[in-house]
Amino acid sequence: MTVICVAGGTGQVGREVVRQAVAAGHTVSVISRKMPSPEDTAYVDGARYFSADVAAGGGMVPALEGCAVVVDCLEGKTGRALKTYVEAGSRLLAAAEAAGVAKAVSVSIINCDQNGLAFYRSKAAKERVYARSGLETIVVRATQFHSLLAGIFVVGARLGIIPVVRGARFQTMSASEAATALLEAALEGPSDERHRLRTVGGPEVRSMRDLAESWRRHTGSRGLIVQFPLPGSVGRYLQEGRNLIPEQRFGQETFEGWLAKRKDTL
Ligand SMILES: NC(=O)c1ccc[n+]([C@@H]2O[C@H](COP(=O)([O-])OP(=O)(O)OC[C@H]3O[C@@H](n4cnc5c(N)ncnc54)[C@H](OP(=O)(O)O)[C@@H]3O)[C@@H](O)[C@H]2O)c1
Repeated sequence: MTVICVAGGTGQVGREVVRQAVAAGHTVSVISRKMPSPEDTAYVDGARYFSADVAAGGGMVPALEGCAVVVDCLEGKTGRALKTYVEAGSRLLAAAEAAGVAKAVSVSIINCDQNGLAFYRSKAAKERVYARSGLETIVVRATQFHSLLAGIFVVGARLGIIPVVRGARFQTMSASEAATALLEAALEGPSDERHRLRTVGGPEVRSMRDLAESWRRHTGSRGLIVQFPLPGSVGRYLQEGRNLIPEQRFGQETFEGWLAKRKDTL
């Protein structure tokens, strides 16, 4: 059995890595700023929780001590969290190296280096930090999650519209299956290659409009589907299908299947 630290192990993907690792009998420590209570959906019985701000740099040692591998599921979308996201990755790797951890795995996004948005640029910059690390590292690039599209539709529908980027297609996957890929990478035996990059995607490529229609059917929303063009580098990223990886259909759970499981909560 392996001793694993999951940084960001209370988040959407991180908690699934924790859940699957604990279920498989591994010893798991979790780093996040807020400690979940046993009633929280993020809490996994059997994992040990440590509070530390990775971006600030301190407090990680107790969680990393004795670990063979650290899995980085941290996020930083806007403001200070976005600004410190890459630095947080560096600090985590430095703390892991100092604690004697041999390997680090990080989640990233398909072709993040081909999208000019600051959020995507931060993912690409963090990948470079991982590539330069003294640890053995694996970066797992995933396609967008089902929850991301559902979240966009939910927010729009509150205003009566379901926004769809004209011409955009997605290969969404569940955060849980992305977590499976991360855990597999974490548990692989040592490699001669110091740094590896791999990609995982969902089971289907579908137009955003089609996904919006599925979402509307499942939720009973009366929102109007409104298509709009998206200019700039994000628009190009989507129009050129750079968010897709059709040859890597790692995930099996479809958007429809994911929605069906959540029909009481959507
Ligand atoms: N959403 C998508 O479609 C998608 C697709 C592919 C890849 N990804 C990537 O997957 C990664 C995880 O995404 P997610 O949706 O699971 O994120 P999330 O739900 O926002 O979870 C982020 C986790 O990181 C922790 N965290 C954030 N800042 C921290 C800090 N300074 N120190 C310690 N812990 C910190 C959070 O806990 P606290 O807030 O309590 O600290 C939480 O546990 C991200 O890098 C994301 O870009 C997402």
